[in-house]
This record gives sequence, C-alpha cells and structure tokens, in this order.
Amino acid sequence: MPDTPLTPAVHAEQDGPADLGGCRNATVIGAGVIGTSWAALFLAHGLHVTVTDPRADAEEQVRAGVEEITPTLAALGLPTDGLTGRLRFEPDLAAAVADADLVQENGPERLGVKQEIWRTVEQAAPAHALFATSTSGVPATAIAEALEQPERLVVGHPFNPPHLVPLVEVVPGQRTSPETVERACALYTALGKKPQVLRKEIPGFVANRLQSALFREAVHLVAEGVVTEAELDAIVTDSIGLRWAVAGPFQTFHLGGGPGGLPHFLAHLGTAMAAGWPHLGRPAFDEPTVALLSQQAQDAFGAEPVAGLAARRDRAQIALLNALREDRGETA
Ligand SMILES: NC(=O)c1ccc[n+]([C@@H]2O[C@H](COP(=O)([O-])OP(=O)(O)OC[C@H]3O[C@@H](n4cnc5c(N)ncnc54)[C@H](O)[C@@H]3O)[C@@H](O)[C@H]2O)c1
Repeated sequence: MPDTPLTPAVHAEQDGPADLGGCRNATVIGAGVIGTSWAALFLAHGLHVTVTDPRADAEEQVRAGVEEITPTLAALGLPTDGLTGRLRFEPDLAAAVADADLVQENGPERLGVKQEIWRTVEQAAPAHALFATSTSGVPATAIAEALEQPERLVVGHPFNPPHLVPLVEVVPGQRTSPETVERACALYTALGKKPQVLRKEIPGFVANRLQSALFREAVHLVAEGVVTEAELDAIVTDSIGLRWAVAGPFQTFHLGGGPGGLPHFLAHLGTAMAAGWPHLGRPAFDEPTVALLSQQAQDAFGAEPVAGLAARRDRAQIALLNALREDRGETA
C-alpha cells in the first residue's frame, strides 16, 4: 500500500510515531466495545488519543478497558509502557477533534446519529484529518449525504476486537476519494492491521456476510438434531476453522483440485456442491429454536464464566497469530 503522509509538512513532528505517516493525534468517537479497543491499539502504536462520548462513565470505562487489553497488546509484541499517559477525554465533540489527524467513529449504529456526529466533525476537525467510521452496516454513501466533503469519509470496519483481529474492511462510499482510501489503508497497515478494500458497497460487508451464511447452516444443523452445538463447534475448529486461518475457501478448494487446481475441483465436485445449495437450511430464530440454542449453549459452555472462556480464546488466538506471523516472516 502507498504510504501517503497524512500531513506532509505540518504534522511530521519529531515526537510523532515514525511509521504512521505523520499521524500523531487520533480521536476516538464512542467509548464502547469497539472504541475502547481502537483506543488501546492506537496508544500502543504511540498515538496521542482523545476519546469523546456523552456517557458520564466513559473515562472510567475506557481506562478499565485499556488496562484489561494491555496484556493482549504485550503478548502481540507491542509496547505498553505509559499507554494512558497519552490518553485524554473530551466530552465536547468539536473540541475533541480540533487537533485530530485521524478520526475513528464508533458511535451508535444509527444513520441519523452518525450523520449528526460527522456533520460536527467536518466543521471542527483540521482539513487534513482522515475520517473513518467503524460502522458494521451503514454505508459511507448514506452518512456522507450529510457532509459538504463526502470524499473525506470512508468505512474502516474492524472485526471485533480491533486490537487483536487483523482485518479491517475499508469500504468507500460512492463519493469517497481514492486518496482517502489509500490513506486509510496506509494507516491501518502501519497499525498492524490487514485492510481489505471492498470494490462495491454491500450490506453487511464481506466478513459478516460469510459468518452469517455459515451460522445460518450451523443453526439449521443443530435445530434439526444432526449435531449438538458442542459437536458442531468441534467439527469447525478441527477442520475448516483451522484450515481457513492459513488458506481461505478458494485456495483451499484450489488445493483440493490437486494439480488441476480450482478448475478441476469445480469440474469434478462443483456440480454436486451446487445441487445441494437449494437444500441448505433456512432456520428462523423462533421461540423453540432460541430456547434450544440457549439450553445447548448453557450445557456446552455454561460451566465456565464467559470472561474465562474469552481469555482462553484470546490466548490461543494470539499464539496462532504469532505462529502465522513467524511463518510469514512478519514482525509486530
Ligand atoms: N461490537 C462489534 O462487534 C462491532 C464490530 C465492528 C464494528 N462495530 C461498529 O462499531 C460501532 C460501535 O459499536 P459498539 O459495539 O462499540 O457499540 P457500543 O454500544 O458498545 O458503544 C457505542 C458508544 O457510543 C456512545 N455514543 C452514543 N451517542 C454518541 C454520540 N453522539 N457521540 C459519541 N458517542 C456516542 C455510547 O455512549 C457508547 O459508549 C457501531 O457502528 C458498530 O456497528 C461493532
């Protein structure tokens, strides 16, 4: 990705992180799950972070959240000394973005609220600031209808939690400029993320659509009594989950085709696979299905508190990420 400086002359200060193209100050709008995670990651990369949120307990929550995330950042090889020394809180949105080089918005998932936020940001932020929204589903095109400079806004959709999972889906709206997309990709890459630019705006973007397609079939198989939740999860983690961390669905089937690759795979097995597509499940979250899923989740996972399960999952995820990074010769 091109390493376009955010502010070639003005903000390339000596004390700004050397590898972030002049980005020194990040403003995180919305201090919930995603905002807290982004804030922690930005701090670990040396940025000065201003958090803004109308909630009275935002500062307390974010400080606690950053503390909780810090061991994960350390395990990923990121520096964690003095993180909160560069963290400040500013409830007034306009004041919070006044010095921003990057604005990452993580407010409520409602078009009207996001438009209101971005209208204020556009008026108050420096002209060079990069505008990114973490939205999981509101298109940048729709949010930018409220803006005078729609070319400045792009979706930077992380996969939760952003401080750990590499993917960021970069989704330009109809009027987002190519320069904004390039700058977003350069910055996310410098922050250790793996940005992927979508070529079209589509509801749900890509990762969540894929997750949803698989989960629909998972719900169907459990609701039909083919397997339990625990059995289905073991099937996934012992097969496609393990494989997909290394080679995605297309490369997997390319390899499945032997020397003839994907063309051979499709000729050999594609027709039979497609013949099964109309028979895939179409479950609903009706009352009996929700009751069944809830009971099985309790049976399979309920013996251990969620926080403990999440900590174990994160430890294993970090070990896997570090192993993959080593295999690819990458550094933190
Ligand atoms: N949770 C996820 O898994 C996930 C993943 C990727 C993207 N996202 C997206 O990230 C965004 C935030 O999601 P979340 O899960 O962190 O939500 P959340 O409910 O945890 O946090 C939202 C925060 O926004 C604050 N807020 C409300 N009005 C505001 C305003 N006017 N200005 C600033 N802040 C305001 C709230 O007080 C709250 O702290 C959403 O757009 C969501 O779609 C969520």
